[in-house]
Formats: sequence, C-alpha cells, structure tokens
Amino acid sequence: MLHGFVAVSRDAHSPFAQRLYDIIIVCGRLRQARRDESLQDREEQVLRTKVAIIGAGPAGLLLGQLLHQYGIDNIILERQSPDYVLGRIRAGLLEEGTVTLLDQVGAGARAHAEGLLHEGIELAFAGRRHRIDMKSATGKTVMIYGQTEVTLDLMNARKAAGLTTVYEASDVQPHDFDGSHPRVTYGKDGVTHTLDCDFIAGCDGFHGVSRASVPASALQEFERVYPFGWLGILSETPPVSHELIYSNHARGFALCTMRSMKRSRHYVQCSLDDHVDQWPDDRFWDELKSRLDQEAADSLITGPSIEKSIAPLRSFVAEPMRFGKMFLCGDAAHIVPPTGAKGLNLAASDAHYLSSALREFYDEKSNAGIDAYSARALARVWKAVRFSWWMTSMLHKFPDNGSIGARIQLAELDYVTQSQAAMTSLAENYVGLPF
Ligand code: APR
Ligand code: PHB
Repeated sequence: MLHGFVAVSRDAHSPFAQRLYDIIIVCGRLRQARRDESLQDREEQVLRTKVAIIGAGPAGLLLGQLLHQYGIDNIILERQSPDYVLGRIRAGLLEEGTVTLLDQVGAGARAHAEGLLHEGIELAFAGRRHRIDMKSATGKTVMIYGQTEVTLDLMNARKAAGLTTVYEASDVQPHDFDGSHPRVTYGKDGVTHTLDCDFIAGCDGFHGVSRASVPASALQEFERVYPFGWLGILSETPPVSHELIYSNHARGFALCTMRSMKRSRHYVQCSLDDHVDQWPDDRFWDELKSRLDQEAADSLITGPSIEKSIAPLRSFVAEPMRFGKMFLCGDAAHIVPPTGAKGLNLAASDAHYLSSALREFYDEKSNAGIDAYSARALARVWKAVRFSWWMTSMLHKFPDNGSIGARIQLAELDYVTQSQAAMTSLAENYVGLPF
C-alpha cells in the first residue's frame, strides 16, 4: 500500500491517455435522463441497484466484477476521473491469491503475459545481501505487476461487461445504512441523484466518506504513524537485480523494485518534512547507492525519473468492517506500511470475503456470510498488519531507538537469514496467507 503519494510528473501515464477516455463509462440512464430534462428541469434522478459501491480503486473494481460473476448487479460511484485514478502510482506486487481472483473475473490475462514471477527476495544489511527463497520455503511465488495495470485491467473488464461506473461523482454520501432503506446520494453534472440499494460497499480508501459516515461511537480505530516516509522514483532503467532488494542501512532503509525488465521503482526512507523538490534525481541516486551493498551500487543504472513522490507510512485498522447494511473494504478499513506490499492484496481478500458473503445472501437466503464478514476479513488483515509492522521495524532507521535498536535489528536480520524456521515464517507471510 502506497497510500498518499503525490505525483509530480504525469509523463509516465501519457500512454494511457487515449484508453482512459475510452474507459469513461457513464450510466446510459443518467445520460438519457440528462438529455430528457435538457436544462429546464434538473430534477433528482432515482436509480436502483443491489450493491452500491463507493470508490473505483482496486477494492471497488474487483468487488464489482466478483459480484457481477455471481449475478449481483452493482453500480460504482467514483469521485475522480479514470485518468486520475490510473495516475496514482502505487505498489506492484501480487500474491498468488490476488492473481487467482483476477483470473476468476477474467482480468488476469495481461498480468500473466507481462507480470514477472519472483521466487525470492534479498535482504541487504552490514554490506551483504542474503536471499530468502520463498518458492522452496512455501512452494509459492509473487508476481511483479503494477497496481495501475491491475486497475486498468479491471476497468476494461468492467467496461466489457457493460457495467455502470459513474466517474466524477460529487458529494457522494451513504444514508440509512443502519435502517431498512440504504441509499447513496451524489451529484453529477449539477444534478443530484439517489441510488437505492440493498447494501453499500465502502471501497473509498482511507480518506473516503464511508468510514467517515459511521458514528465515532460505533468504531474502534487502531493507528501507528511512523516517524519517516518513503521517497519513490520510477525510471526507465533496468532493475539492479532480478529480485527485490530490501536494505537496512545506517543512513536509512532502501528498496529496489521494478515494474518490468526495463522500468525500475526505487525507494529511500526520508524525513516526513522532506519535499520532492529537495530531491533532484542525482541526489536520489547518490543516496540510494550509499544504502546498497557494493555490488548492487556498482550495477545500478541510473536515469531520469518519470515520477517522484513521497508517502507517509501508517498502520491503521478500523473495527468492525460492517455497520448494518454498509461494509468497508480495502483501504477504507485498513492501511499498512508498504514494506511487504500488502495493501492491494488485502483489498483483494476483502473483496473476496465480501462478494462470497453477498453471494450467500442472495443465492442461499442466508445471513451467515454477511454476519461473519467483518471477523473473517479482520483476522487476515491483522496478520498482514503485524507482518508489515514487523518488516518495517526490522528494516528502517528509527530516530528514537538509538544504537542498541540498530544492533538488535542486525541481530534479527542475521537470525532471519540463517534460521530456516525464520525464513519460512517470513516467506509464508510475504507470499500471502491463505484466504
Ligand atoms: N466518493 C467516491 N469515491 C471516493 C471518495 C468519495 N467520497 N473518496 C475516495 N474515493 C475513491 C478514490 O478516488 C479512489 O479511487 O475511492 C477509491 C479508493 O481507492 P484506493 O485508495 O486505491 O483504495 P482501495 O481500492 O481500497 O485499494 C487498496 O492497495 O496498494 C494499496 O493503498 C493502495 O490503493 C491501494 C490499496
Ligand atoms: C513496489 O513495487 O512499488 C513495491 C514492491 C514491494 C514493496 C513495496 C513496494 O514492499
């Protein structure tokens, strides 16, 4: 999860531009309604669907496709334009379970064709790199494939299925989810609309309106804000190594990852007060090199950044994930620091649990699944929260932990890379716990 990135360059996204406008799916009924009313009578329109989904990020889009597969109609309301949604650069590592879900909804073909399968990762510390062989420890791999690409594939699948997404919906507001008449109101082109529904799925990210609409007394929130951020750059350069390098260094954490064999994504731990303007490309590359082992530093190929952004790191969980007829899904309910790339994968497991629960409700007339949704999702969420916190704690420089903290980290890294049991534990969590 790379929540909160501020993109400073959109060059990277220009190839999408043509396709983006192609993807804008506006409800035919809305368009017709707008035409009918012309300008004289801009009346409120009332629509109806089974599940009103707020937010067209990976959580909302995947949920929408899964529901569609189960024959459950749904409409997505998204505040931003498709261009904006695809412009957000986030992590790019998929667990096998996430890929299976993409396959299930017919959106996995490009990931299989273009994604890179990784069987291990490298942990760098004290001037050396140590490999964790995830495949031999767990039998599983992870796939390198950008979240932007996942989102685009899901948008295209939604378009192909003829499903409705209202982009640039303003003032989206869920109502009466604790009563018998849940609905969502929103504005589009100056007209207010009401979407009547059986259920609302709040897939609108950390800053969304869904969780914010729940009375504070009904929510319990758990949060840790880390005292540093990640500065990330995307560049048209080959990756340093064929696998990811997570580096613990006295100057701070660094991560070398990739989007393809020609495009790299690199991060360095930075101060929360830093601004991207203070980080010209040369400074970034020098800093990254200084945090890598000699061999990696020597083989690093640098080039101009095509995106540069700073993200804060946070662990956050809101409990429960259900409030009457509204469910939270993805970043709307939880945030993890990106060390381990669990954000998108948790959004996918939530969408799986919620869609199965709703299928059970409609097909089997049973409330069991929807009653169990929050507990089932949270059980997996908390394990990923723990793992992401642990990876973050082991790999970053913590200003307040002093020299003893740094030595304890090295001892832990030494243990994790020597003990088969510890390596297996890391690998099991990294490739994703079952769901
Ligand atoms: N009304 C409608 N849409 C909204 C509103 C609102 N009030 N607030 C936010 N949204 C939209 C956002 O514009 C965004 O497109 O909800 C969507 C939420 O998407 P994400 O933030 O991507 O969250 P999610 O779908 O849960 O995806 C999980 O995985 O790697 C992580 O954080 C990363 O996005 C990622 C996440
Ligand atoms: C990324 O590809 O951006 C990425 C990969 C792994 C992480 C975090 C980010 O742990």
